[in-house]
Amino acid sequence: MNQAPLIEGLKVKLRQPIDTDINDRFRCGRNKELVRMYGGDTRNLKPLTIEDAVNFIEQIKANKLEWCVEFQDRCIGQARLTVSKDDRRARYAVGLFDSSVWGKGLGTEITQIVLQYAFEELKLHRVDLRVIEYNHRAIACYEKCGFVKEGIEREGALIEDKYETDIMMSILDREYIAIRDIFIKMNSLN
Ligand SMILES: CC(C)(COP(=O)(O)OP(=O)(O)OC[C@H]1O[C@@H](n2cnc3c(N)ncnc32)[C@H](O)[C@@H]1OP(=O)(O)O)[C@@H](O)C(=O)NCCC(=O)NCCS
Repeated sequence: MNQAPLIEGLKVKLRQPIDTDINDRFRCGRNKELVRMYGGDTRNLKPLTIEDAVNFIEQIKANKLEWCVEFQDRCIGQARLTVSKDDRRARYAVGLFDSSVWGKGLGTEITQIVLQYAFEELKLHRVDLRVIEYNHRAIACYEKCGFVKEGIEREGALIEDKYETDIMMSILDREYIAIRDIFIKMNSLN
């Protein structure tokens, strides 16, 4: 069950799902580049159905720490932390299904406020993620937020008949502390 706390940034609000999120997801349809950035096959894509949108929001509801991202009074995407308590670490994932907002700094803001929550509230030691090598926008966003590349999984994914490489990135608590003041200035966090 979703237990994600409300987190407010300068431009975005991270909150638990609400019913209108289904329509916001449905309205954006199936975006070819979004599918590709998640490592999906973009050949023969089927249109997104209302059932797909319902399932999408239900899945967010089912995860303990997954937020819907609200921007200008609508849901534009989601962010998730999957915590491994024993090792004080979490896997991070973020996705903005509304492609009209890409490249405006929202992914950076979302990632920074989730990292603030992960390190300052949950007291984690490490947050990590994996991203496909060709997802240059996401990698640039993560690097701006302090994630460093720590390894690769060579040609581990077969996408549209081509073997693709995944990149593993992480940020440690001490690295977060070192850049925290920059986040605060950018997001007016306190
Ligand atoms: C990845 C994602 C969350 C990033 O959020 P965003 O709001 O678009 O990103 P931001 O605007 O905060 O930052 C993106 C940065 O990448 C840069 N960028 C954009 N396109 C780029 C490209 N083709 N190559 C290199 N850098 C690029 C931008 O210039 C920006 O850096 P800057 O602020 O220094 O100029 C968002 O684009 C998204 O949801 N994409 C689709 C789903 C996805 O890829 N999810 C991640 C799966 S691991």
